[in-house]
Amino acid sequence: MYDIDTFVRVNETRLLDELKQLLRIPSVSTNPEHAGDCRRAGEWLAEHFRALGCSSVELKASETHPVVVADGPKCPGKATVLVYGHYDVQPPDPLDLWDTPPFEPVVRDGNLYARGATDDKGQVFSIIKAYEAVIRDSAPPVNVRFLIEGQEESGSAVLFDLLEREPDLVDADAVLVADTPYYAPGWPAVETGLRGLCYAEITVRTLKGDLHSGLYGGVAPNAHEALVQILTQLKSPKGRIKIPGLYEAVARPTRQEREAWNSLPFKLQKFMRQEVGSRELTGLTRYSVFERLWALPTLDIHGISGGFTGEGAKTVIPAVASAKVSLRLVPNQRARTVQRQLARAVKQVAPRYADVKVDFIHGADPVVVDATGPHIQLIDKAFREVEGRGVVPIRSGGSIPIVPALGKKGAPVILSGVGLPDDGLHAPNEKLAVEQFFKGVRVFGRFLELAGQ
Ligand code: BES
Ligand code: MN
Ligand code: MN
Repeated sequence: MYDIDTFVRVNETRLLDELKQLLRIPSVSTNPEHAGDCRRAGEWLAEHFRALGCSSVELKASETHPVVVADGPKCPGKATVLVYGHYDVQPPDPLDLWDTPPFEPVVRDGNLYARGATDDKGQVFSIIKAYEAVIRDSAPPVNVRFLIEGQEESGSAVLFDLLEREPDLVDADAVLVADTPYYAPGWPAVETGLRGLCYAEITVRTLKGDLHSGLYGGVAPNAHEALVQILTQLKSPKGRIKIPGLYEAVARPTRQEREAWNSLPFKLQKFMRQEVGSRELTGLTRYSVFERLWALPTLDIHGISGGFTGEGAKTVIPAVASAKVSLRLVPNQRARTVQRQLARAVKQVAPRYADVKVDFIHGADPVVVDATGPHIQLIDKAFREVEGRGVVPIRSGGSIPIVPALGKKGAPVILSGVGLPDDGLHAPNEKLAVEQFFKGVRVFGRFLELAGQ
């Protein structure tokens, strides 16, 4: 029997080389200039699935950001595992903070550095190679369908439309998603919840056009001043979001859940100083850090623009200013409802002299996963065998918009990845530990074997 460990050992170099090929494609979905690269990444995967002997491989629903749908050979009477992942990545900037270029993957000190190394090309590729490992010298142990999209980082519109039109695509016995990290090195996790998102741009206009601040300062309404007034009224200095109705739908985690979180190994000082890199933590301090990260909504300002920010000085009263903001949402909030609540709150607190506009960019509902079912026991067993420790149930503050839709036909969704918390996703020098990648091949390979038994 040609087992998975042997497969990994014999093919180490080739597996990494293949992943590097995929990482070299700058498939940044949030930037239209990279549409061609997103297409290329989709085509690269499709070609890869054909070479693996998939019986049906299609690029669906978009010319520029196609969804790759690939089915392994049919195994009648066996369960079906749906594997979801994304081949698109976040923009790599600021480029000057990368030690090596983001789309020239290299291994240094046991880590593979590249944009997408962990989020999500490296992680989803570990499942693809796991599949290769288990079909290598025998019939597939289980039915597998891969569903890999190219728009996760920009809201998944193409895949949402596709699943509306073809709901049977998610007809499966379990959905496996490797797009969330371990809790800590040596501590694999299964995420029982993800936060949702409501991303918006607030634009304020106070004048027909910019004015000289000497001639008109003292009487002319300043757009930046209006914008700042609005923003500061949306959250108290103590961290309570002052959007009417926002907390109504928020469900407190169960006592059992809170107790489980409290028993996780956690060093506050280390987390604050090293991981966050600050002197203090903010937010509603009467709740634990985990509750603030996983079970409470947030409101963040991502960037403010308008007026004069160039070199030197320019005495201008800006007519227009705008801010990109987002709220992270928790069970049982709904992105649609929060959109309305935010728009109303902004209009309520805006000064009378300001015209305000709130444009929604994208959103996602929060996710709750039942982590007690039999499928979780399979991933737990696979991790026990490979890592020597089973999965801990945690939540995560990030969002994966399509997850609720993946479970629409009743299949349980397993959120369990092999990245580490310090992988630096979305940041410069994103990496995946090479060891974690190979663990992924072994764990997911065992999972596929077990799922077919
Ligand atoms: N893989 C991440 C989400 C994630 C990361 C969940 C870590 C849990 C832990 C995903 O690719 C991502 O970045 N999602 C975006 C949402 C999107 C709509 C821009 C996010 O969370 O900001
Ligand atoms: Mn991701
Ligand atoms: Mn991401």
